[in-house]
Amino acid sequence: AVVVVKRRGKGPKWGKVRAIFTDVERKCATPVARLRQVADAMAVEMHAGLASDGGSKLKMLLSYVDNLPTGDEKGLFYALDLGGTNFRVLRVLLGGKEGRVIKQEYEEVSIPPHLMLGGSHELFDFIAAALSRFVATEGDEFRIPEGKQRELGFTFSFPVKQLSIASGILIKWTKGFCIEETVGEDVVAELTKAMERQGLNMRVTALVNDTIGTLAGGRYEDSDVLVAVILGTGTNAAYVERANAIPKWHGLLPKSGDMVINMEWGNFKSSLLPLTEYDEALDFESLNPGEQIYEKLMSGMYLGEIVRRILLRMAQESSLFGEVVPQKLEIPFILSICDIVAQRGARLAAAGIYGILKKLGRDTVTSPKQRTVIAMDGGLYEHYSIFSECVNNTLRNLLGEEIAGTVVIKLANDGSGIGAALLAASHSQYLEG
Ligand code: GLC
Repeated sequence: AVVVVKRRGKGPKWGKVRAIFTDVERKCATPVARLRQVADAMAVEMHAGLASDGGSKLKMLLSYVDNLPTGDEKGLFYALDLGGTNFRVLRVLLGGKEGRVIKQEYEEVSIPPHLMLGGSHELFDFIAAALSRFVATEGDEFRIPEGKQRELGFTFSFPVKQLSIASGILIKWTKGFCIEETVGEDVVAELTKAMERQGLNMRVTALVNDTIGTLAGGRYEDSDVLVAVILGTGTNAAYVERANAIPKWHGLLPKSGDMVINMEWGNFKSSLLPLTEYDEALDFESLNPGEQIYEKLMSGMYLGEIVRRILLRMAQESSLFGEVVPQKLEIPFILSICDIVAQRGARLAAAGIYGILKKLGRDTVTSPKQRTVIAMDGGLYEHYSIFSECVNNTLRNLLGEEIAGTVVIKLANDGSGIGAALLAASHSQYLEG
């Protein structure tokens, strides 16, 4: 990066600006050797989290999804996707083997910020009301079997301890949400009560994290999908694990032999992570200090906030935004700060993906050669090309050319909504009896 140093009268103290910049650049460095260590630490924590509850910063949550969509799913299903600043409601008509997705419609509603910090009832009532209005617009082409209830896949993108495929207790809020009274409650029960208050006759048949929804949606499109990653407001990953490699799972071994795991990798923490004083201050002043450290290094909710803190320090110590307005921002220089912070995040995300591939044994050439697809979703990855290119380049670098040729990151745009509907379909009461 080029730092432009100019001296004009009583303008900014550029030497000071440069010193801060160089310091940030040094502290944010992520040499490949360090990324490999991060990947190894991720794989170690994955093992620990699978061994016992509380065994690791990685919760490695059981999703109760032991079968991913096959393409046979059929019927009308709704999905509700809650997890960021917006939520989505969706209905999809699945045609089974022949038709696939026959028709889908969705609506996006932004969540008033005060509801993210208010009461549980208020949030769930707001969601159920929007869902109810959406259901009311259902056209004749969408039909449910006579006498049956409408069914919903609920994508709830926070850490949940699942009790079954259609129930689960909120462990904690993350991202911008903080509603104490929901913690420890079954979020499906909360939603169901709110739907009843709205007079909406609908049943939740699958409760899934957005990573699980993305994995399911990705698999529907491509049978080689094994991992899903979200890089958006928050960040997380899920993957298909062998059930007998999960010591903490005491239930029956599923027929498929598989269990999808929601890693909650946003909470990963290690002394290997290149944290600066800006990250520490951001964490300290956040809604969840000490938590979600990996997430705070890379996800959309925090990247801009890190840069703001660096700029603020520059402004305070060097009158960067001082009286001399016209020259106040040497834009290329400011952008390269952004790049430093974005690249650190993207490279660490790639290291996390590499860690999962190592755990799955997909970091070496298999015989016969297997293709490994990572379904990716999230606005940060989708819209910030410097970021997504950096994730891809770094992953290729870590894997080496030969293996990199067998690993694909596929953007699964809004896979999570469709995925939840697909999982609602495969766990539907329509199939009973
Ligand atoms: C946060 C949530 C996690 C979610 C991720 C991406 O990390 O805790 O459940 O998957 O954001 O939305």
